[in-house]
Amino acid sequence: MTALIEARNLSRHFRLRRETLFGPAPLLHAVDRVGLTIHAGEALGLVGESGCGKSTLARLLARLLDPTGGQVFLHGAEITGESVSRFARSDRRRAIQMVFQDHTESLNPLLTVFQSVADPAGRLLGPMPRAALRRRVEDAAAAVNLPPELLDRYPHQLSGGQKARVGIARALVVEPQLLVLDEPTSALDVSVQATVLQLLDRLRRDRGIALLFVSHDLNVVRLLCQRIAVMYLGQIVETGAAEAIYRAPAHPYTRALLSAIPTLRPRGAERIHLDAEPQSPVNPCLSRCRFAGRCFMEQPLCIQAAPELRTLPDGRQVRCHFAG
Ligand SMILES: Nc1ncnc2c1ncn2[C@@H]1O[C@H](COP(=O)(O)OP(=O)(O)OP(=O)(O)O)[C@@H](O)[C@H]1O
Ligand SMILES: [Mg+2]
Repeated sequence: MTALIEARNLSRHFRLRRETLFGPAPLLHAVDRVGLTIHAGEALGLVGESGCGKSTLARLLARLLDPTGGQVFLHGAEITGESVSRFARSDRRRAIQMVFQDHTESLNPLLTVFQSVADPAGRLLGPMPRAALRRRVEDAAAAVNLPPELLDRYPHQLSGGQKARVGIARALVVEPQLLVLDEPTSALDVSVQATVLQLLDRLRRDRGIALLFVSHDLNVVRLLCQRIAVMYLGQIVETGAAEAIYRAPAHPYTRALLSAIPTLRPRGAERIHLDAEPQSPVNPCLSRCRFAGRCFMEQPLCIQAAPELRTLPDGRQVRCHFAG
């Protein structure tokens, strides 16, 4: 089955300064040769510590940022052949929509809720009769349980949870196949967070919309996602069925992440502390493991050769010489 979206060898390196006579420009490897697939109707959770490249990868997959290497495919057809600005004007733009973390900043304060939700429809679906546009906006608002009387309000007249719903309705109005959500609930309090998560799960089940859900909260990802991908310093270090990874994490970094959360710590496991500093993402050494220096399973091989992702018997992939 062709994946809805597939990344192959996808990279984004940021040049920090210009090249000088004294040497090449330092490159920050925010995302480094990532391979990833998302199928129709599934929720993939992308997790990892701050600065590991989650938002950069999400923006690359949503085609809001050009990669410096690799490709993205939508239903098997490459969409990285054209620039982000050209893609924004193509009829495939509507297939992938992004929902941002800060709903206050991502909503224009001068537009009513109706105008905010209608805006992407106007841009991506072309001119349509006023009544058809109204129906689309009302459908999107209903899909996120936003009462119709809120459509005439301005963002400052809404609660945080209502703004989050408007952000999701704006993405839904063009009937996307994939929603890319970058920490969409982290600014909300716990009970509001739960209703937004239920809403996203219902959209996935009822409408078959795939979700890429970026979060540093593993408890939240567990509620929503069937598969997870764990990132560390720009690379995927473990990916597979969420249930299998939560039950028995294989990569030492995943083990440390899960052990830090008492409710998720696998039975009998000790809390694993990662005290040492991570390696720098700037010009990283390509011939050793990026987790070396922090890893409790480290062996001499780890600084002699960088591990590639390999598949374990249960189908998950792990980037470690010794895991499993
Ligand atoms: N425009 C940019 N120029 C230079 N470096 C950047 C740029 N954008 C991101 N980075 C760097 O890329 C790395 C990954 O950043 P990114 O925002 O993707 O991380 P993240 O996993 O989303 O972190 P967080 O959990 O804090 O949101 C970081 O080291 C960051 O400083
Ligand atoms: Mg981020």
